[in-house]
Amino acid sequence: MRILAIESSCDDTSTAVVEDGRVRSNIVLSQDEVHRPYGGVVPELASRSHMRAILPLIEAALDRSGLTLEDIDAVVATYGPGLVGSLLVGLNAGKALAFARGLPFLGVNHLEGHLLSPQIEEGLPFPYVGLLVSGGHTSLYFAEDLGVYRHLGSTRDDAAGEAFDKVAKLLGLGFPGGKAIDDLARKGDPYAISFPRARLKSRGNGAEFDFSFSGIKTAVALWLEEHPADSDTARADVAASFQEAVVDMLLETSFAALRAVGCNQFAIAGGVSANSRLRARAAALAAECGVRLIIPPMRYCTDNAAMIGYAGWQRLARGEQHDLDLNAYADLTL
Ligand code: KG4
Ligand code: ZN
Repeated sequence: MRILAIESSCDDTSTAVVEDGRVRSNIVLSQDEVHRPYGGVVPELASRSHMRAILPLIEAALDRSGLTLEDIDAVVATYGPGLVGSLLVGLNAGKALAFARGLPFLGVNHLEGHLLSPQIEEGLPFPYVGLLVSGGHTSLYFAEDLGVYRHLGSTRDDAAGEAFDKVAKLLGLGFPGGKAIDDLARKGDPYAISFPRARLKSRGNGAEFDFSFSGIKTAVALWLEEHPADSDTARADVAASFQEAVVDMLLETSFAALRAVGCNQFAIAGGVSANSRLRARAAALAAECGVRLIIPPMRYCTDNAAMIGYAGWQRLARGEQHDLDLNAYADLTL
């Protein structure tokens, strides 16, 4: 089955062709340049940029796959969660194509795309605990089987990537700031400043492994008010200490969840999985605990249509499809 996949949930436009779970092409157009002057994603500009990009990117994904529209058997597109104006562009392009060519159509949950992304190249079998950590999400799931995902916890406020971006702004590092903090932190001492680690109590709703990142962002802001970081060393120490605290919170909670569900496979996906300290510490902890750690290649970690095509393929193969009146849902859950 040859699938054309479209992803436009936030600020990256992406298209892919996936054949029986194998990625034939995957193209991502970042909008970072569009949003950089504003220090964050501007929803109206995001939808307008998706509109401009979507048709050329569909053609490009087909070209690069060596196929034409005639060779495509089904169309899939992300239908949530995300910015609704952004989602609608990709979803409607997908539905229109499916309608015009009389092809089956399926809407894919963006979070399921991320959660299944470790299977694309590494072939990670179920069950595993998946940490989705990006600018928009920080959630833990126990993926037991296709469509059987136990939600173990989520952030109660900011996503981890959002905290990286906000602290980068405080340090004057620009947007998006995760990579800049990662680079700066290499020159700093992760133990220089002891920022608070939020440890949350269960709310008794089954989601026992929640996160919180707004406190640390405020702690960094307060610290900078009292200790102007006017030297490179001081700024590097703030970056390294902040990053260490975030990594501690992410890994402590994830490994507690792994123990609680009795699972020894752990996957990390989403843009923050690019973080070098998170990768190094996760690898060390996994080795220590006898856990198999999978972090997909970066192109499948950040937002991309290949993971949407892969998840769509799994569901289409089970006979699922959606009617063409499928709507976009900003708050779609998994
Ligand atoms: O998955 P993604 O590309 O887009 C969504 O948010 O859905 O993730 C982007 C996020 C941004 O917040 C960015 O600052 C963060 O991932 N990020 C990083 C690193 N590279 C990207 N955070 C920490 N360290 C990095 N090396
Ligand atoms: Zn995402």
